[in-house]
Amino acid sequence: MKTELIICMGSSCFARGNKKNHEVILEYIQTNNLSERVILKGNHCFDQCSKGPIIKINNKVYEDMNEERIIEILDKEFGIN
Ligand code: FES
Repeated sequence: MKTELIICMGSSCFARGNKKNHEVILEYIQTNNLSERVILKGNHCFDQCSKGPIIKINNKVYEDMNEERIIEILDKEFGIN
């Protein structure tokens, strides 16, 4: 099964970190050769702006995302360290 990553591209999340987080995720996918295993999508505001930046991975919501936390979560998700 592919891992579905949804990045909130609403203006609040985007301005507060998801612009950078999106780049980090793209780079991570490339570096680790994961493009076959990932579906990457952008989404409109999830109405959880105050907890943003928001990223969903397989329908689980991750709040307050930054570069370090994303990499940690992706490492776990894909069994990479
Ligand atoms: S902009 Fe991301 S939850 Fe609103």
